[in-house]
Amino acid sequence: MARPTEPQSQSKPAQPRNEPQKAAKGGISLLEVIGLAAFAILPLLIPALRSGTVQQWLPLSLQSYLAHPAPNATQAAEENAAQPSLLEACASHTYTTEIVSLDPLVVYINNFTSHAEAEALIQLGSADFQDSFISRSRGGTQKDPGRTSQSAPLPLEHPLVSCILARARTFMGAMLQPDEPFSIPQLVRYYDSQRYDLHTDFWPQHQIMNDGSGRLFNRPASFFVFMRDNCTAGETYFPAVDVLDRDAARGGNLEASFKGKVMRGEREGKKRGVKFRPITGNAVFWVNIGEDGRGDRRLVHAGLPVGEGEKIGLNIWPRKFYLDDI
Ligand SMILES: *[C@@H]1O[C@H](CO)[C@@H](O)[C@H](O)[C@H]1NC(C)=O
Ligand SMILES: *[C@@H]1O[C@H](CO)[C@@H](O)[C@H](O)[C@H]1NC(C)=O
Ligand SMILES: *[C@@H]1O[C@H](CO)[C@@H](O)[C@H](O)[C@H]1NC(C)=O
Repeated sequence: MARPTEPQSQSKPAQPRNEPQKAAKGGISLLEVIGLAAFAILPLLIPALRSGTVQQWLPLSLQSYLAHPAPNATQAAEENAAQPSLLEACASHTYTTEIVSLDPLVVYINNFTSHAEAEALIQLGSADFQDSFISRSRGGTQKDPGRTSQSAPLPLEHPLVSCILARARTFMGAMLQPDEPFSIPQLVRYYDSQRYDLHTDFWPQHQIMNDGSGRLFNRPASFFVFMRDNCTAGETYFPAVDVLDRDAARGGNLEASFKGKVMRGEREGKKRGVKFRPITGNAVFWVNIGEDGRGDRRLVHAGLPVGEGEKIGLNIWPRKFYLDDI
């Protein structure tokens, strides 16, 4: 974070005035002497205070302040998210999976993160929330009236973030090569009535890596992890993943098998597609770009408006390199 620069002093040099010149008349008050002396030793005092040589003479409360300067919220969150207990639990974390749809592939992941991980990740990003943008194919980013949430990037190099990304990589198996990276994970926060209209996560044209290699990349798959579910509505809705009618004649009922986690959506007055209720720690994984290298429009989805409260999610986007156009 950039430290704001000190405002430049606006005061003009004092104009000479016709005031009685006290000093010229020979009198320097005791107060002025003390003030000047304090000013003169200041450059010596500050390094001495910092190095601790003078601290031992100060009152205890001041000593403790100098030893522990005012906490910086970002730094405190970074330290909290790097606690050995949290990182150990992260390394051995387990989750369970349930298939929602085979074609296109959509997988429900229970406990993709623990509640403690979710909260630590939110704290890591919470100072950096800003209005969400949409990212266009080779066109940079822009604000869009259809996306009213706020987003915050998570530091890729933080040990907790790397642990979660390693979990996502293991989940993807052979879909991702070791040299294929993740983009910076983004927290996304929605309050009352905020939403993200229908969109796909893949770009209609591959993006160009900005590392000078000229390699083309896109998002072969997406993870959306629910990080805070203190809200009504706000489901993630896939209108074209229409699997709930399958096996209906034989009593198949996806809604019942998912016990309220996955529901039927509604579009233009008809039951269509599936929607996922925000449940902290649970995630949805789907494949955006199939084996044929084509973007799959059936994965179009929306963040439905939150009724009341707060929803926070985490976007995890692997990057895959492509030789041919999408
Ligand atoms: C707070 O800590 C973060 C991370 O250690 C650092 O990048 C940032 O510059 C600090 N901010 C201030 C105002 O000291
Ligand atoms: C998720 O984790 C919680 C807490 O560890 C556990 O009680 C629950 O059974 C897990 N859920 C699933 C579906 O694995
Ligand atoms: C959840 O939201 C309700 C109101 O929507 C609020 O009163 C409550 O404090 C929130 N709880 C947490 C843990 O944020």
